[in-house]
Amino acid sequence: MTASSPRPASPSWRGEPLSTVNESNAMRPAWFDAHLSTRDFERLRIVIERYAGIRMPDAKSTMLESRLRHRLRDLGIEDFGEYAALVLRSRPQDAEFVRFIDCVTTNKTDFFRERGHFDYLAQTTWPTLATELGAGLDRELVVWCAASSTGEEPYTLAMVLSEVAARTPGLRFRIIATDLSTEVLERAQRGVYTDAQVEPVPLHMRMKYLMRSKDRSQGLVRVTPALRSLVRFGRLNLVDDDWPVRERVDIIFCRNVFIYFDRKMQEAILRRFCRQLVPGGYVFLGHAEAINGHDVPLKSVGPTTYRTASTTNGVRA
Ligand SMILES: C[S@@+](CC[C@H](N)C(=O)[O-])C[C@H]1O[C@@H](n2cnc3c(N)ncnc32)[C@H](O)[C@@H]1O
Repeated sequence: MTASSPRPASPSWRGEPLSTVNESNAMRPAWFDAHLSTRDFERLRIVIERYAGIRMPDAKSTMLESRLRHRLRDLGIEDFGEYAALVLRSRPQDAEFVRFIDCVTTNKTDFFRERGHFDYLAQTTWPTLATELGAGLDRELVVWCAASSTGEEPYTLAMVLSEVAARTPGLRFRIIATDLSTEVLERAQRGVYTDAQVEPVPLHMRMKYLMRSKDRSQGLVRVTPALRSLVRFGRLNLVDDDWPVRERVDIIFCRNVFIYFDRKMQEAILRRFCRQLVPGGYVFLGHAEAINGHDVPLKSVGPTTYRTASTTNGVRA
């Protein structure tokens, strides 16, 4: 504002309470009151299920409407019909399609979520793989975190394995972290979290693997460069025919994403996991995702923890 600009009127706090002010709907932009019709929900639901495998029961219509409303606002589109048409004529690599998919994914995650899996990893999984296959000692141990969201899960894996490495001279490991949503991957790569988010991280690990921001009042921490360097992030759609993970891995963490897939899709992905794993490799699923009667060559070895058939330890599906 220049010196000659008129001064803005100072705010007035007198008058009617807001609730009684006669707001005119005409003042509101059209997207504000737009409604996702059954037909448009149906059109978008089909795209989501085909592209991402994510089931969208009717009950999710309101959630989808609220998640997509800001796309209408940002694009200056007035109604969901126009937005659905835009999505339908987009190709998967188009910017709006990518944003659309970002909006429909649910990304809830935590550091040390379902903690028992990390204890099992440190105490049983890695020693077993080291003894049977030399994993981590004769060669690098490779862990794939297949729905990594904003990074809490792969960084937890990196912390836990770093602790093991600190008492196991020569242990080498690496983590591949993938997700469908580009937005969460960007946040994961930045590795910045609030104090509340890192609360589940044990204090001694917080001191080693997290750095406080210079401005302490922000209440933010960042994962150290050394820990970040152990995790490689990339975009991967589990439903795609081609996965850009070219190597065999020892362990797959794929937790709290199967709940969104139907059983046929779960089985297809689990069978592909088995081919991606070394013989005797491990799969960890979310606690609500137990394999029950699925037609897959995996054997249960703990709570939602599975192993592929192995030639060395007699594990058979
Ligand atoms: C609820 S979060 C779970 C995050 C983490 N695994 C955990 O357990 O805390 C589910 C994640 O799966 C991702 N996702 C959904 N559909 C996917 C797909 N088809 N391929 C890859 N990732 C997908 C979402 O973007 C989201 O980040």
